[in-house]
Amino acid sequence: MVRVLITGSADGFGLEAGRQLVARGHTVYLHARNQSRANDAKAACPGAAGVLVADLSNLTETRRLAEEANAIGEFDAVILNAGMLNGPFRKTPDTGVPAMVFVNVLAPYVLACLLRRPKRLIFIASQLHRQADTSTEDIFWFKRGEAGFQEFPAYCDSKFHVMLIANAIARRFRGTSVVSVHPGWVATKVGGAEAPDKMEDGVETYVMLAEGDYDQSLTGKYFDPKKKLGSPLPASEDTQLQDKAVKACEEVTGLKIPT
Ligand SMILES: NC(=O)c1ccc[n+]([C@@H]2O[C@H](COP(=O)([O-])OP(=O)(O)OC[C@H]3O[C@@H](n4cnc5c(N)ncnc54)[C@H](OP(=O)(O)O)[C@@H]3O)[C@@H](O)[C@H]2O)c1
Repeated sequence: MVRVLITGSADGFGLEAGRQLVARGHTVYLHARNQSRANDAKAACPGAAGVLVADLSNLTETRRLAEEANAIGEFDAVILNAGMLNGPFRKTPDTGVPAMVFVNVLAPYVLACLLRRPKRLIFIASQLHRQADTSTEDIFWFKRGEAGFQEFPAYCDSKFHVMLIANAIARRFRGTSVVSVHPGWVATKVGGAEAPDKMEDGVETYVMLAEGDYDQSLTGKYFDPKKKLGSPLPASEDTQLQDKAVKACEEVTGLKIPT
């Protein structure tokens, strides 16, 4: 049996993966943005061992989440699943980074830096990383600001950037399998009502990775739904771009990836 932490698990893929892992007898810690959503998560997945609370658009709360998770002990798998797409440009108070970019890029970076190192660290990306601007300039929108912000291209960029970070971490964390996942285009708040794919296909991949039922010497790899290895955009494997993304995260958070 494994101990798993899943961020953003009051809804969507995170909640469904949590429910399936509980049903398979694992110790699952969920996470929600506030106490009210934590109550929803616990009601939807009563067998969870606990629900941690933190707004992942906030640096202080993200750091606190890492502390609280570390106090629980070591996790076999951590699934950095929380993400968002829709919503206005909203500068987060403690960094000035737009909320969507914080949740999709910086929160996974901060958690990867501060959490006790799990055996498997899983970043939830998207096939939309293929549509990103791969220049990796101005990741946090400090230069372009609100006037240049459009949520869909910004989301595609954020998913490319989080893959760069995942691959940079994979190069540094020995003994941890660090992977990225496209879970399928599925009707959730992120996917929208018209999405054609099946949630269970993506959740199959989450469960496989959480349980470690794959070759765990694989690291820096990208998975698709139905447990398949996928083909990421080659630019996500460019170590110079990876290091550029990491440097940008270091500058905003003051945190370095532990080696
Ligand atoms: N659905 C798709 O088609 C699709 C495709 C590719 C990738 N993905 C990725 O899959 C992951 C899961 O998304 P989903 O499709 O399952 O959508 P979802 O149902 O909206 O789930 C996203 C989760 O993240 C949480 N979250 C968002 N902002 C947060 C914040 N500031 N603090 C804490 N938690 C926050 C949400 O909390 P609330 O429920 O309280 O809002 C929700 O539980 C995301 O990373 C998404 O980008 C989805």
